[in-house]
Amino acid sequence: MADYSKMLSDETADGWTTIIFLYQSALKEVGTRLEILNDEFQHVHKYNPIEYIKSRIKSPESIVKKLKRRNLETSIENMVQYVNDIAGIRVICSFTSDIYRIAEMLRNQSDIKILSTKDYIQNPKDSGYKSYHMIASVPIFMSDSVVDTKVEIQIRTIAMDFWASLEHKIYYKFEGNAPKYISSELRECAEIVSMLDARMLSLNEAIKRFSNEEDA
Ligand code: GTP
Ligand code: MG
Repeated sequence: MADYSKMLSDETADGWTTIIFLYQSALKEVGTRLEILNDEFQHVHKYNPIEYIKSRIKSPESIVKKLKRRNLETSIENMVQYVNDIAGIRVICSFTSDIYRIAEMLRNQSDIKILSTKDYIQNPKDSGYKSYHMIASVPIFMSDSVVDTKVEIQIRTIAMDFWASLEHKIYYKFEGNAPKYISSELRECAEIVSMLDARMLSLNEAIKRFSNEEDA
C-alpha cells in the first residue's frame, strides 16, 4: 500500500483507505450470506452445497496495472467504475448442480444486484477454463450512508478449481506463452475435469435415489 500511495495525492490516498474498507465490508457481507445459505441448506436438506470459500482484495499493484492496460488514469473514480474484481470471492462446490443452486440463491436476495454473469461452464474459454462468474453489488450500510459495492463472485467445482490453479501457475510461469504441448495437455485435462464432474454428479444422484428408496 505504501507504493500505491506514492502514486496518488494525499487526498486520493485517504479516499483509497475508505474505498478498501468498503470492499472489505462487501467481502464480509457476501461471505456471511453464503455461509448462512450453506448452514440453512445443511439444516433443511442435510447437505452442504459449499465446500469452502476463499476471498481476497486485489493488490494495489494489480489494480493500477489493470487500469494502465485499459489506458485509464489511476484514480479512485476509475478503479470504482472500471475494476470489477477489487473484491473477489471464490466459492468451491462439490457438484456442478450446486454452482447453479448457489448462483440462483444469491440472485434471489432482493438487495443484491447482479450486474453481469458469465457462464464459462456452458461456454468454456479456449484455454479450457470453466467457472461461473457474477459481478454483484451489495449495499454497505454505514453510519450516514449506504454504498453499493461491487464483488466478483466465482463459483466452481473442486475439480475446476484444481485445474484453474495449475493453469494460472503455468500462465504466469510462461507469461501467457506456454509451449504448445503444455497448452494442449491442459485442454485435455479440462476435458477430463468435465468428465469427472459429470460422473461424480451422476454417482451422487444414484446415491440419493438409493437413500430415497431405503427411506420409502
Ligand atoms: P480479467 O480482466 O482477467 O479480470 O478478466 P475479465 O474482466 O475479462 O473477466 P473474466 O470473467 O474473463 O475473468 C475474471 C477472472 O476469472 C480472472 O481474473 C481469473 O481469476 C479468472 N479467469 C478467467 N479466465 C481464466 C483462465 O483462462 N484461467 C484461469 N486460471 N483463470 C481465469
Ligand atoms: Mg480478475
